[in-house]
Amino acid sequence: MRNILITGGAGFIGSHVVRLFCKNYPDYQVYNLDKLTYAGNLENLKDVASACPNYHFIKGDICDIDHLRRIFADHRIDGVIHLAAESHVDRSIKDPFAFAQTNVLGTIALLQAAREYWSSEAGGGMAGKRFYHISTDEVYGSLHDPGTFFVETTAYDPQSPYSASKASSDHFVRAFGNTYGLPIVISNCSNNYGPNQFPEKLIPLFINNIRHGKPLPVYGTGENVRDWLYVVDHARAIDTIFHRGRDGETYNIGGFNEWRNIDLIKVMIRTADRLLGNPEGHSDGLITYVQDRAGHDKRYAIDSTKLHEELGWEPSLQFEEGIEKTIRWYLDNQEWMDNITSGAYEKYYAEMYGNR
Ligand code: NAD
Ligand code: DAU
Repeated sequence: MRNILITGGAGFIGSHVVRLFCKNYPDYQVYNLDKLTYAGNLENLKDVASACPNYHFIKGDICDIDHLRRIFADHRIDGVIHLAAESHVDRSIKDPFAFAQTNVLGTIALLQAAREYWSSEAGGGMAGKRFYHISTDEVYGSLHDPGTFFVETTAYDPQSPYSASKASSDHFVRAFGNTYGLPIVISNCSNNYGPNQFPEKLIPLFINNIRHGKPLPVYGTGENVRDWLYVVDHARAIDTIFHRGRDGETYNIGGFNEWRNIDLIKVMIRTADRLLGNPEGHSDGLITYVQDRAGHDKRYAIDSTKLHEELGWEPSLQFEEGIEKTIRWYLDNQEWMDNITSGAYEKYYAEMYGNR
């Protein structure tokens, strides 16, 4: 495979995947298709855009099938890594339609465009092609019993509009594999953390609030559990699965790294205070318990044994190292954060690429 279409490459995880592919595979042409929603930020890729001649940005919507058809034909796409999505659970509670639109209908449009092109004479058939769909552990629902894990055969039981839309997209991807012989592969990953995450998500939001002495809104009792993986390790897993995963298979990705939210928040406070030169305990009083998220999933925990045993992947970073590195990155890149929180980057890209 040489011409790779990565959707959602201007977002958090997508930007790390684009960087890894552009740098590790200089003989690939990497096309980043992104609508630049509020979550898309080309600043995440400015190093790649200036250093990698094999990187190409295309502004567009995965729901626009005519545009997708042109992209497949013009660039002779033979591999897809699909990350574009609405990704925030709280937003899905406020506006479920946007999630059905992008995550479900957008994924169907992408599947259909791939199928049409690869089964055409110009596309050269399905052999050697790959449609890789990036999904989430949230499709499996919520765990309650300690010591239980999500495995690839766990029944789907999505609980939020976000996870329902991701589950639906997973089903469509498998249906295209089964019905039309599309060479698909899916991975379901746990919570990611690291540089460039949009500051509506727990970790970057709280780091920024600690920095500015603002309240840290802990949902409910803070006892919900998430399983955290460093974003570059997710990108490495995507590289592994894209190149060596078996057609039609699903792989769970996670680092066996569960944290109760409140414990994670205390680690973040302690680390950020130390890095900021504040005395110990300085920011403890910022913790503010607020109304719980509606339908808040209790616990996620991924068993990634299959990925480890079959393809040899394992995380490269211990959590203590990863979280310190991440906090340091946000503190050192205040301008990146300020551009987002002030809305300046949206104005800049609207001028460059037209209205969104
Ligand atoms: P993100 O919100 O940071 O980025 C999403 C990107 O998709 C943005 O650049 C946005 O502009 C783009 N996009 C949105 N709608 C689009 C459309 N209609 N057409 C083209 N581009 C569009 O998301 P993220 O956290 O990087 O997540 C990426 C993918 O990984 C998602 O599919 C998500 O479900 C999945 N995932 C995320 C996590 C996590 O912890 N963040 C964990 C597992 C799986
Ligand atoms: O598990 C993978 C999923 O992880 C991805 O599919 C999603 O795209 C990603 O957003 C993430 O979902 P979560 O809902 O787990 O992530 P979030 O950062 O929004 O919240 C993490 C936990 O922290 C969750 O239990 C809710 C809680 N929380 C979150 C916010 C934003 C708070 O207590 N306060 C907050 O302000």
